[in-house]
Amino acid sequence: MITRRHWLTGTAAAAAAAQTIQGAARNIVVASSNGLRACARAMEILKGGGDTLDAVIAGVNINEEDPEDDSVGYGGLPNEEGVVELDASVMHGPTRRGGSVAGLRGIKTPSKVARLVMEQTDHIMLVGEGALRFAKAYGFREENLLTEKSRLAWLVWKRSLRDAGGHNNWSDGLDAPPSKATAELRRMFPGVSDELLAYAWDRAVNPPAGTINCLALNSKGEISGVTTTSGLAWKIPGRVGDSPILGAGLYVDQDVGGAGSTGRGEENIRVAGAHTIVENLRHGMTPKEACLDALKRIARNYDNDRERLARFDISFYALRKDGAYAGASLWSGAARRGQLRPRQFAVNDGDRSRLENCGYLLER
Ligand code: GLY
Repeated sequence: MITRRHWLTGTAAAAAAAQTIQGAARNIVVASSNGLRACARAMEILKGGGDTLDAVIAGVNINEEDPEDDSVGYGGLPNEEGVVELDASVMHGPTRRGGSVAGLRGIKTPSKVARLVMEQTDHIMLVGEGALRFAKAYGFREENLLTEKSRLAWLVWKRSLRDAGGHNNWSDGLDAPPSKATAELRRMFPGVSDELLAYAWDRAVNPPAGTINCLALNSKGEISGVTTTSGLAWKIPGRVGDSPILGAGLYVDQDVGGAGSTGRGEENIRVAGAHTIVENLRHGMTPKEACLDALKRIARNYDNDRERLARFDISFYALRKDGAYAGASLWSGAARRGQLRPRQFAVNDGDRSRLENCGYLLER
């Protein structure tokens, strides 16, 4: 029988101890492509000697509070009933702790609540009504997180649905087919600009699973991360994605580095992506190799069938303890305004935040 003592003194433990990443650390922040401002804010805090978790949370609070970011916090796209439900997780390398919330309604900044779960409880994760009550106990104000823009997108989504006979209860008796959607929407929503209607229609027919992940390393070699999201647009109420799952949407190991994800959360949960990436880093892969390996596991779950894989995309981000970093996506790019654009991620290593192209597994 292997006792705990034997295990601790055995070769596996010795090997694990040896597998810490060495190297000169530096201030660096990495985030998903919507994180340019988050990276800049986080870097300011790192430069001032602040804690890495303080830095990333302050960074993503910009997105959480921004009504124009429809993938996170206030203004995030709602569930199928028009209610915004938020997920977030945090991990603090130096104390090796983490916390998360899922299905949280009515609070703009779930990342702050996740941090409180980490700091003020002996739990890791709070969900739904319990998470809301916990947040209110700590003075958070409950608010309606739906903006006029996200409400419009939700209504347009409801109108986009059709039964087999082409009928939709949320339209008047005319039931225009989807090909005439723009004219129909103009009539249904008079006074709304064509630009806003085009946005709402795009979101209705291409439900996004946006999110922000942000990872920070400081010159002392401390590392932390956060992932926060409104999840998959039009989800079934109660659906939880990868973002609040430690090991999937976020993972940090102070000895090695951190990783996070944006995109289709269900696929990530099935490969425990962020944990897989950190373990890959521990065993010597570069950040790009580590992310691509996690993406290969996702592709393998579909027998590498490009047709089925084409129905979603997912990106991973990795920051190693020595400052090496990468982002990688399943697909080489996403179509925007008729053009294939590369997936990108945000980086700040001390000056201005910039976007860099993600590596990728599959060429579109
Ligand atoms: N990655 C965000 C989600 O799937 O909810």
